[in-house]
Amino acid sequence: MRTGVPPRAFIQEVVTRDGLQIEPRFLPTEDKVALIDALSQTGVAKIEVTSFVSPRAVPNLADAREVARAIRRRPDVTYVALVPNLRGAEAALEADMDELNLVLSVSETHNLANMRMTPQDSLEGFRAIVAAAAGTRAALNGSIATAFGCPFEGAQPAEKVLDLAEAYLAVGLHSVTLADTTGMANPRQVFALVSAFRARFDDVKLTLHFHNTRGMGLANVLAALEAGADRFDASLGGIGGCPFAPGATGNISTEDLVHMLEAMGVETGVDLPALLALARSLPALLGHDIPGQVAKAGRSGDLHPVPAHLRAAQ
Ligand code: COA
Ligand code: ZN
Repeated sequence: MRTGVPPRAFIQEVVTRDGLQIEPRFLPTEDKVALIDALSQTGVAKIEVTSFVSPRAVPNLADAREVARAIRRRPDVTYVALVPNLRGAEAALEADMDELNLVLSVSETHNLANMRMTPQDSLEGFRAIVAAAAGTRAALNGSIATAFGCPFEGAQPAEKVLDLAEAYLAVGLHSVTLADTTGMANPRQVFALVSAFRARFDDVKLTLHFHNTRGMGLANVLAALEAGADRFDASLGGIGGCPFAPGATGNISTEDLVHMLEAMGVETGVDLPALLALARSLPALLGHDIPGQVAKAGRSGDLHPVPAHLRAAQ
């Protein structure tokens, strides 16, 4: 098993799924499509395009089909949709998504609030989705929500999280995401859980999905990198959050993540200036400011002119 910070990390953009699901205003379909098409040109490895969920539960993503149909897909980008149940999976397969992201929460209370079923029932539902996807080209990723803590139940035992990952693989899912749904993870906990995951499932692709709810998002990325993880979800501008978790706020910001990784010498393949330009276009699209920092501050390497009074003295 490789340890230490990997030389390259994969950036997985979730702004039009996690980012928009909690926004108060509906973003018109053509704006979503334009944003995804622009993101496709930035070098991100994956884009979580939308969710095929109940429009009553998440009104902002009610146009999932239209968005999936209208985007211009690049062969080097993996286009993903979140699905909560068989009906969503069938719609996502019909829309020819490259990957389906199946979600359940390790904590029973959050799963009941979010998916309106027990984790056991969700897992049973996964079996039907695996059967429906058999023979198609779609990859199946399983996300474990509240893996680092639940806003209702608190900390979740690492064993319970790892056993659930094992159940995902046994059902037939291909890869796993550990999601810190409401930003409860701390870096030591992340290092320990990622290390334990990799010790038990060395050959399984692992994504970390962090929210910056308590300011620990990028510290958690560093801890995950040091435990050997190399795939990260992030949202342009740092917007987002689960509508069914009290106090949820944005994902880690994609441009802040790429900026940090570049500064550390970890390759991402992402065009940071292009990403920053898109992040700076978000406030006008959404009607509010964004939490991302680098879009406001500029890159650490963007130097300013020496003040005039100092130049005169030189
Ligand atoms: N896509 C679209 N509509 C769906 C759907 C899907 N995948 N699954 C169910 N529905 C519709 C049903 O037709 C029904 O519609 P109606 O109220 O107009 O009759 C309604 O949703 C409720 O269906 P039901 O089967 O009774 O499910 P539920 O009320 O127990 O809801 C979920 C279960 C999972 C479908 C719903 O809670 C949901 O979509 N949640 C989304 C959670 C989410 O995205 N969270 C954030 C990301 S983790
Ligand atoms: Zn999230």
